[in-house]
Amino acid sequence: MNFSLSSKAIATTKADCLVVGVPEKGDWPESTTHADEALDGLIKKLQKAGDITGKNGITGVFPLDGRSWSRLMVVGTGKNDDRTPANFRKAVTAVLGALKDGPSKSALIAMADTQVKGEPAVSSEEALLNVIGRILEEQLYTFSEFKSEKPASRKLNKVTVVASGSGKALKEAFNLGLATGRGMNFTRDLGNTPPNICHPIWLADQAKQLAKDYDSIKTEVLDEKQMEKMGMNTILAVGKGSTQPPRLIVMEYRGGKTKDKPYVLVGKGITFDTGGISLKPGEGMDEMKYDMGGSASVFGTMKVLAETKPKINVVAVVAAAENMPDGGASRPGDIVTTLSGQTVEILNTDAEGRLVLCDALTYVKKFDPEVVIDMATLTGACIIALGNQATGLLANNDELANELLAAGERTGDRAWRLPLWDEYQSQLDSNFADMANIGGRPAGTITAACFLSRFAKDYRWAHLDIAGTAWLSGKAKGATGRPVPLLVDYLMSHAGK
Ligand code: BES
Ligand code: MN
Ligand code: ZN
Repeated sequence: MNFSLSSKAIATTKADCLVVGVPEKGDWPESTTHADEALDGLIKKLQKAGDITGKNGITGVFPLDGRSWSRLMVVGTGKNDDRTPANFRKAVTAVLGALKDGPSKSALIAMADTQVKGEPAVSSEEALLNVIGRILEEQLYTFSEFKSEKPASRKLNKVTVVASGSGKALKEAFNLGLATGRGMNFTRDLGNTPPNICHPIWLADQAKQLAKDYDSIKTEVLDEKQMEKMGMNTILAVGKGSTQPPRLIVMEYRGGKTKDKPYVLVGKGITFDTGGISLKPGEGMDEMKYDMGGSASVFGTMKVLAETKPKINVVAVVAAAENMPDGGASRPGDIVTTLSGQTVEILNTDAEGRLVLCDALTYVKKFDPEVVIDMATLTGACIIALGNQATGLLANNDELANELLAAGERTGDRAWRLPLWDEYQSQLDSNFADMANIGGRPAGTITAACFLSRFAKDYRWAHLDIAGTAWLSGKAKGATGRPVPLLVDYLMSHAGK
């Protein structure tokens, strides 16, 4: 697929399909007016005749002959006054939905001058080009590696996006959007890969491959012997019930100054979560292949950094293990000493995410982090609280929390903060160890974060519970690529110029 930006006049730019937006009421963007002029007023005629209503996200395709284009696609963009960034994303998504299985080999999308509400960060031409770039990659994603009959190959192979000029800022914004989409798609590929293939060593191989593909990424992998020497006993305790050994994967992207402290990302990488001896019910258990979604988002974000080269230092740590129930598995009641020295009574082997993360959170102290953000499909309770819309956010620092919330708002990859009050900590009391690994049914997402907070005292830290947002179930089953957009936006806002 070929994606490019063009600042040539629309009227003289050839493509199989020209795409413009038409509002429900009010003024048109310049692109639409230019297209209408080139088509001798066709768009106005169609609107008058009721063929185009302008309702947001509704597309119509009209054949043209003897022009620069074989057909015209018009997408409704709603009322000018209430066009939110979300409405704009919906309209662009509808365009790609209609283009991807259509007859056009090439398309010219002239929508980056749409009037959108909000601050420049979400409404400027740069912002819209970023959104269009991301949606191009996201919507054209397929995962058919394991189908013996490949879907018929797509006709569309070239998309040109119209920009007002050829300046650097416009190009960079579009390229960042494309890179973000590709990062999300990498995250989705890792998540969708079946768990008999995607195990901890396979994940480590992906990290090594990233280091091969990009000079800017360095990868180091700790095996079970190295972890044992260091005392990372909780990761080991989770991995013990599986024939697939655990791994601690470290990737470094150093685009900033040597003295700049790194932003540290930590990902939960449970490549399959059976629950262990506290076995999960069978129904829908296949979806526990997505329990490495946190680590997949870390991989996706590292790819975006490697492709766009921002001036920032980022260290990524993935705690990878498979939670299985064989004869070597941890038992409910086992007590384990974490890397931090604190002891944990494992009352439920299905609360394994926090066990792999706590050692990783202790390990990352050595990087003297600016901040630490962990991503994890940590609790079913988070799905009950927030559904599939928002990622759960818990943090020991308000400024960091607010910045992440803002990044989520700007990208539509939203998070919602839950409290981390001290009063919840006592739910983790254990009669026999420093803490238990579960805190009972009430406030399950919060007590999971409380557990993590005990290992994140030495730095500014935020936890993203992506149990509801990393993948979709049902007919649309598949990884979403979240929270890569949120993470990329946050990191870019901290990159040096
Ligand atoms: N990976 C699960 C959380 C999960 C469950 C995410 C379903 C998405 C969908 C996690 O390891 C887990 O099993 N958590 C338990 C914790 C409980 C035992 C305290 C849960 O949420 O039930
Ligand atoms: Mn579990
Ligand atoms: Zn899990």
